[in-house]
Amino acid sequence: MAAVPVTAESTQRWVDDPGLVRPTPRTRTVRQRWARGLALVAVVTASASATGWLVGLGVGRVAGNRQAPWIIGRAAGVTAYLLLLGLVVLGLVLSHPWRTRVSRPSAATRIRLHVSLAAFTLAFVVLHVVALATDRYAGVGLRGALLPMGAAYRPVPVTLGVLSAYAGLLAGTTAALAGRVSHRVWWPIHKVALVAFLLVWLHGALSGSDTPALRLLYLLTGAGLVVLALSRYAARTPADRSAAMVGSRR
Ligand code: HEM
Repeated sequence: MAAVPVTAESTQRWVDDPGLVRPTPRTRTVRQRWARGLALVAVVTASASATGWLVGLGVGRVAGNRQAPWIIGRAAGVTAYLLLLGLVVLGLVLSHPWRTRVSRPSAATRIRLHVSLAAFTLAFVVLHVVALATDRYAGVGLRGALLPMGAAYRPVPVTLGVLSAYAGLLAGTTAALAGRVSHRVWWPIHKVALVAFLLVWLHGALSGSDTPALRLLYLLTGAGLVVLALSRYAARTPADRSAAMVGSRR
């Protein structure tokens, strides 16, 4: 793969279209690479240890409990919600006209983080859906997990979850095509991610949330995201303006 020279312009183009070839950082010294490598090993070890401890704690608590699939399903749902929130927040920050004011973490790291969050969100959504669909007492089943109005339990709120899962898959799949199809094709479709978040928000608030702390979580995170989205869409990028001009000429 040919190396792309690192210029302000090439970096900006890569931020605008993550599918492009990543510029190679040439200025990193051997000591910096070692420090980064060691920091990465430390972070992975710490997170793996924390995950192992939490999984052990969780399994110990729900082992032998008839409600285990439901508890795991709910926990996975809340985790997926928080990951999706991080994913959408990062997406708005990445496309925000003010993004150039923030230099750290680098644009490349922010995009890598965005992709990783998408993968983890998908993993926890799958866990959430499988746990609830296979729970005999949840009233979801295979039909409820795949089809709108297919669940016996709160059909409308659960349908919002089903639709959000399909919208999220559409947003993720089109982003995976970035670089192979034109930015003008995949980028407008990728914005479906905001609709997916809105549907998930309604789904979480209406189908679960018998806990005041969770209700507060939905309220605060929803309000925060609305403020961020308004600030992103009120301040238009030069790319948005030229796209709007091209569109108005057609
Ligand atoms: C096929 C798609 C989906 C189905 C069938 C489904 C099913 C359900 C059901 C039945 C509940 C109620 C659990 C209870 O009894 O309290 C629930 C709650 C929830 N789901 Fe989903 N869901 C789906 C998609 C999603 C997605 C995509 C997310 C997030 C990314 C999500 C996040 C949540 C959250 C946060 C709750 C509320 C947990 C609580 O407040 O207790 N769900 N879901």
